[in-house]
Amino acid sequence: MSRSPTSSSATSADDLPNAAAAEDVAAMTADEAARAHAKLGEEIAGHDRRYYQDDAPTVSDAAYDALRRRYEAIEAQFPELRGMDSLSEKVGAAPSAKFAKVRHAVPMLSLGNAFADEEVEEFVARVRRFLGLATDAEVTFTAEPKIDGLSCSLRYENGVFVQAATRGDGFEGEDVTANVRTIGEIPQRLKGADVPAVFEVRGEVYMGHDAFAAINERQQEAGKPLFANPRNAAAGSLRQLDPKITASRPLRFFAYAWGEVSEAGLPADTQFGVIEAFKRWGLPTNPLTVRCHTAAELLAHYRLIGEQRAMLGYDIDGVVYKVDSLALQGRLGFVSRSPRWALAHKFPAQRAVTRLERIEIQVGRTGALTPVAKLTPVTVGGVVVSNASLHNEDYIKGLGGNGEPIRGTHEGEPVDIREGDWVVIQRAGDVIPQVVAVETERRPADARPYAFPTLCPACGSHAVREEGEAVRRCTGGLICPAQAVERIRHFVSRDAFDIEGLGEKQVQAFFEAGLVKQPADIFTLEARDSAPGALTRLKNREGWGETSAKNLFVAIASRRQVPVNRFLYALGIRHVGETNAKRLLRHFATVDALRETALAAIPPGEAHPKGNEAWQEITGIEGIGAVVAEAVVDFFGEPNNQAAVAALLREVTPEPMEAVASAGAVSGKTVVFTGTLEKMTRDEAKAMAERLGAKVAGSVSKKTDYVVAGADAGSKLAKARELGVAVLSEDEWLALAGAN
Ligand code: IVH
Repeated sequence: MSRSPTSSSATSADDLPNAAAAEDVAAMTADEAARAHAKLGEEIAGHDRRYYQDDAPTVSDAAYDALRRRYEAIEAQFPELRGMDSLSEKVGAAPSAKFAKVRHAVPMLSLGNAFADEEVEEFVARVRRFLGLATDAEVTFTAEPKIDGLSCSLRYENGVFVQAATRGDGFEGEDVTANVRTIGEIPQRLKGADVPAVFEVRGEVYMGHDAFAAINERQQEAGKPLFANPRNAAAGSLRQLDPKITASRPLRFFAYAWGEVSEAGLPADTQFGVIEAFKRWGLPTNPLTVRCHTAAELLAHYRLIGEQRAMLGYDIDGVVYKVDSLALQGRLGFVSRSPRWALAHKFPAQRAVTRLERIEIQVGRTGALTPVAKLTPVTVGGVVVSNASLHNEDYIKGLGGNGEPIRGTHEGEPVDIREGDWVVIQRAGDVIPQVVAVETERRPADARPYAFPTLCPACGSHAVREEGEAVRRCTGGLICPAQAVERIRHFVSRDAFDIEGLGEKQVQAFFEAGLVKQPADIFTLEARDSAPGALTRLKNREGWGETSAKNLFVAIASRRQVPVNRFLYALGIRHVGETNAKRLLRHFATVDALRETALAAIPPGEAHPKGNEAWQEITGIEGIGAVVAEAVVDFFGEPNNQAAVAALLREVTPEPMEAVASAGAVSGKTVVFTGTLEKMTRDEAKAMAERLGAKVAGSVSKKTDYVVAGADAGSKLAKARELGVAVLSEDEWLALAGAN
């Protein structure tokens, strides 16, 4: 059993008629068993709640054990009682080898951030502007604490809890059902007649301050590492393979949003109304949720929550504002991954003073030398910080992009950062901590200005700074081991090949052992590992075992087919991030076609004043300029890269690109809006078109697919007619876009 010993002065196990209980179960009819099972279930759930949630158990562990054994004996005899919400599933379910993936039917998105009051005013104004509201029209918002935990989606079918998933990358999370079942506060069954057949409740799993302190005390006693903050403790507890461990760490939950909802629909037409329904259904909701109507009211609630923050007993990192009307939320929609109808107003960054012990230089994938401050560990807003970013050479010297002092001056000179200095560290949200100031009056007498290396610390090659660049780069290229390791790390990272089980540590170890020198080696690992002459099998290496080695090979095999945009992004070409990879492939479709053109391209000035046709083809792609094009041409022109890509293509098959939007009637079309629209503002129309995969242009040309003409359309309409471009009314457009 999972409960840790409590003061068990009450009944001893021997007092309880276990053997008799088992006999009595054997004699039960199915009806008697069902009744006894339900009654025991309730009794045990009550004990669980008092133990895990209230920290106030009312029975001894032995007595609790006996109840559970009887419950399990009934289930062993009558397996049909082992339903979805069986307590036997709650604690002690067999640990799965690793979490299964859950695809979110409705993505779990993030929120736009604000720090200053003005940004909140701008948010309210933006919402009003977007919706084209008259000055006297009222908009209602909700304001509620932003809980510092981890978001989780709970799926209920016919009111019964069936699945829980973490956010993951927003589109796919981890199946943590078994662990979430151990959270006493999350109902196994929703109460109420208006619960839709399918309902995904979303909210935050978090850990209270008391539980956090108790767990760290336990960790310390057991000689185990401490958790940095309640959020990490909550995440570490939820993402346990063994639900018994989760059960021993009292997690809590606040419901504040939803995902997939079946036909019958939502229980209310406002944000606030749905949250009230959550409460009725038995879900925990945050009592500090209110309705507001103006920026001033939102800010007043922000200050009120700020004042109460220290007394809440759990961590919050800001206040979330949401447009209350769900109809308006629908109209406002999303900008990339955040809703236009919501805003996270964060509390100010937290600061602390500590000693900068030394400056370490890290070498990145493209050879950039990045200085990192190694600090005497210090707690900043509940998190232990021991590293801070120093950005680049000039930043250490105290100079900005134009050579101006960024930290003021000391004795007439810009304030630089030296090893041994006392520094002020700032941390805001998940951003890497920054050094924001130096306490020059405490500077040690022997502290000297930092001499930034001009040789790469990893391979000894020259590190040079190009004209106009802030970054110094190692010129070692492919011979530099640090760059090679970073390239492989990038290759396996989440947005690239996403190979589970191959994290930063493993990549480093494989590289050092000579097992993986370049990406293609990852895919030959298994064959080499099982070859008769293999020296040390992976399963026998430190940190590995039979299961983890097998899991890794399975994860690798599952990536032999990848969308081509991920393939290109994974190559780690400078300036080719996810967006540029998609831009290039929307034009070239395959890596081969891109490579051929890159090899044929001559940049301007080298042999041809404007570059040749191939060069112009690349730079003609929307969003691709000379800098990106040059990086692509350089990359494919380098023989070692050619060999690396060819080796990779022998192992991996790129598949068509991931879809940008579902292929609706307007996806990929170019649209121009003109005249006054009646049903929505121009911004709203533009956002809707882009959401559906269309491109919105400002002027009409032969490339325009549709001109949507509102009232009083003028020259653009005339131009469309002249060029024979299809002209649509607002209603026709909405019908075509599938929005009517
Ligand atoms: S609403 C579509 N409300 O903040 C947006 N999120 O920065 C749905 N969070 O991933 C999120 N408290 O983990 C919302 N009251 C609250 C929240 C909240 C915490 C987290 C959530 C989300 C992140 C976004």
